[in-house]
Amino acid sequence: VNDVQIVRAGPGRLDDLASLWRSMQEHHRSVDPAIPGIPPRSADDSWPRRRAKYVEWLRHPDAFILLAEQASSPVGYALVSIHEPADDTHMTGDRWAELQSLSVEPSRRGSGLGTRLVERVYEELRVSGIEELAIGVIATNERAMRFYERQGFRPWVVTTLGKVPKSTQ
Ligand SMILES: CC(C)(COP(=O)(O)OP(=O)(O)OC[C@H]1O[C@@H](n2cnc3c(N)ncnc32)[C@H](O)[C@@H]1OP(=O)(O)O)[C@@H](O)C(=O)NCCC(=O)NCCS
Repeated sequence: VNDVQIVRAGPGRLDDLASLWRSMQEHHRSVDPAIPGIPPRSADDSWPRRRAKYVEWLRHPDAFILLAEQASSPVGYALVSIHEPADDTHMTGDRWAELQSLSVEPSRRGSGLGTRLVERVYEELRVSGIEELAIGVIATNERAMRFYERQGFRPWVVTTLGKVPKSTQ
């Protein structure tokens, strides 16, 4: 992990994230909650949709990608978007952040790179004067949940998903 550099990047590096998104999506498929009638998308279907969202989020001047590279090869990333204004239910600042994605290449997981990436996310946010960070986690991704709880984060809003029931008439 020590020879891995973490660099802040903008939309010009989006195409470098494709295979890391793919491996995160594969992990998500392996922990999928199996909601009846709503299977996860394939990585091929999912990446262009996700990429388009990244482009939108990165329009905000305080949004960013942190790319972990080893010998110029991407081995992990974090992508952070910014919300304005303050959340209306909790006492956040006028701007608050959301960690939209965190991915480490499968062969490197469990060696501290994810922790380095989130610590660098905090540094970037401190520089921007942003004090709150939300992180969405698939409810059945228990190891990721444990990772964030160890960092001091707690479940907040739980989103449920299901099919609209068929009409009985
Ligand atoms: C979650 C993730 C970014 C953490 O990065 P990392 O470099 O593996 O994390 P670290 O080595 O700093 O810390 C290890 C901790 O990460 C968590 N973790 C989550 N998924 C893991 C995985 N597949 N392998 C190893 N650790 C994982 C665990 O809490 C682990 O601690 P544990 O060994 O006590 O279970 C990385 O494991 C990953 O990319 N996982 C798959 C994708 C994913 O779930 N992303 C989060 C989406 S919200």
